Amino acid sequence: MRHPVEALKEYIRFPSVSTDPAYAEGMRGAREYAASLLKQLGFTVEVVATDLHPILLAERLGSPDWPHVVLYGHYDVQPADPFALWTDAPFEPTERDGRLYGRGTADNKGPTIVHMAALSRVLEENPDLPLNITYVIEGEEEIGSPSMPQFFDQYAARLSKADFMLVSDTGSPNTEQIVITTALRGLVDFEIKLRGAKVDLHSGIHGGAVYNPLQALMEICASLHNPDGSVNVPGFYDDVLPVFDWERDELKRYPETVESYRQMLDVPAFYPANGLSPLEAVRFGPTLEFNGIGGGYQGEGSKTVIPSEAFAKITCRLVSNQDPSKIKQQLIATIKERCPDGVRLTFREGGIAEAYLVVPPERPNTPADQPAALARAFKAADVAIGDQFGRAPIYLREGGSIPVIADFKKRAGLDALMIGLFTPVDNLHAPDESFSLALMDNAIAAFEQIIKNIALPPVVA
Ligand code: BES
Ligand code: MN
Repeated sequence: MRHPVEALKEYIRFPSVSTDPAYAEGMRGAREYAASLLKQLGFTVEVVATDLHPILLAERLGSPDWPHVVLYGHYDVQPADPFALWTDAPFEPTERDGRLYGRGTADNKGPTIVHMAALSRVLEENPDLPLNITYVIEGEEEIGSPSMPQFFDQYAARLSKADFMLVSDTGSPNTEQIVITTALRGLVDFEIKLRGAKVDLHSGIHGGAVYNPLQALMEICASLHNPDGSVNVPGFYDDVLPVFDWERDELKRYPETVESYRQMLDVPAFYPANGLSPLEAVRFGPTLEFNGIGGGYQGEGSKTVIPSEAFAKITCRLVSNQDPSKIKQQLIATIKERCPDGVRLTFREGGIAEAYLVVPPERPNTPADQPAALARAFKAADVAIGDQFGRAPIYLREGGSIPVIADFKKRAGLDALMIGLFTPVDNLHAPDESFSLALMDNAIAAFEQIIKNIALPPVVA
């Protein structure tokens, strides 16, 4: 494989925005490029057709006695909009101050190239590496992976022959302190729509007679939280998994204080619910967030109108043990109950995803039946990260979601070792996304060591 930074630049140049059909060409380009890298590494590559974006399924299989890892990544990226806020063009990668800028550099093309570069070096040194590897690189992660269920229908049996997954699509606090991610939050996505009169009304002629849909929407939305910030939906917190003691200890090692976190975000104050600190709230607690709200006149100046429609886009992040379909039903029932008779209520029901949790080996809560290959991989990662970064990793839950990870567990029985390679300054999903090239170097070295040590027999690095 060519130099990893050059490979990453080429990968970035394919604008693979999964949500927008205008980028079909970029999606194809990124997919074919990733496939070509896998072929260079000696994989047999299948392009699995779906209703939307094809999935790459690649294999390097030897003896069934070898350990078997599934490497997961996604070739799609978020839209680059708003383009005007980028310093340089988002799909023309540029190097500045030790970083590579471009959409997808951190999420998830950089980490994918890290895995492939490490693998390429290990296989060059030892072409007979006793490790079975399956690669799954999908193209719909950023839109909730709608095609993965059909993929599992077809391939779950084959995937379940593997021992565990290795994933780098989560974060670390900075380029020196790596986090091994032990949990991802789940998700419930929906939209409330309220309709009043069949057209916008003159607020002088009709004002006072009708229920303004925007007013009803604001009343409903405002009712969904308590003054202390907690979610005011009956049963919302019933099943929340408590925080393990060892997790609080790990968080003490996190190289960020509440104040440095506050300054980084530039918020005047925090507003965490349920007695959690802000650093705890983003990883241990569930949320309900308004992502967009609209209705009525949005132009310059004023307009005396009673809008005929109003909407709010809402997502909940869920934690382990919360059942997303149950939470969704509770939310819908609560909103129906609180909706006044003067407006008509409909919902757009979006995707749902379960949270995922894996307890590392040798913790008080480690499942007794944790597969040996997974425990061995965790240990290999702990040692390699300590060696290459000079600091042992921190084991922490993460606030973001990768819905397919819970599905891999459910459908194919695979747990995931998740090694966080992006950092808070990488601007994921935002303008000027970037990836640290120093971290990239260290991470490649760490993954070389990890890959060697999850193979059989363990090769000392
Ligand atoms: N890589 C992120 C997930 C992530 C972000 C994990 C931060 C840990 C920390 C992923 O690409 C992503 O953005 N996922 C979406 C999922 C959604 C579209 C279903 C998310 O979390 O919003
Ligand atoms: Mn991602």
